[in-house]
Amino acid sequence: MRKPIYVLNGPNLNLLGVREPDIYGKDTLADIQGLCERRAALAGCTVVFRQTNHEGELITWVQEARTEACAVVINPAAYGHTSIGLLDALKALDIPVVECHLSNPAARESFRHHTYVSHVAAGLVSGFGAKSYELAVEAAAVLSA
Ligand code: DQA
Repeated sequence: MRKPIYVLNGPNLNLLGVREPDIYGKDTLADIQGLCERRAALAGCTVVFRQTNHEGELITWVQEARTEACAVVINPAAYGHTSIGLLDALKALDIPVVECHLSNPAARESFRHHTYVSHVAAGLVSGFGAKSYELAVEAAAVLSA
């Protein structure tokens, strides 16, 4: 039985749909979870989909993924720009990591241009709104096959 793809979401993503919809779109996180589940099923995979506003919890889930997941899709949100602890946890994985963003941080404020997650990710999908997640799940399924 194939292990699930962990789709992990960082701070403020619980507010999707009402938070700056001109930047992040109108889909809620529950909508995005449904998209991820459907896309994973097409590839014969399942997902474990989670969101937290707490850096330590996100790190704990990444550590859990070491043994429980076949790949990680992560939208670290603001922690991508700040968290070396998250980077270190991701470095301890020997499964593929795909970084995912709704917006294109490289086209926004300069403090969003760098993410620590990019140091370890196999690849990055950004700028396509909710579709970024579908593409990231598809990439994770291919990389972990
Ligand atoms: C984000 C981009 C980050 O810069 C920001 O802090 C977020 C969301 C995105 O999905 O576009 O919270 O990760």
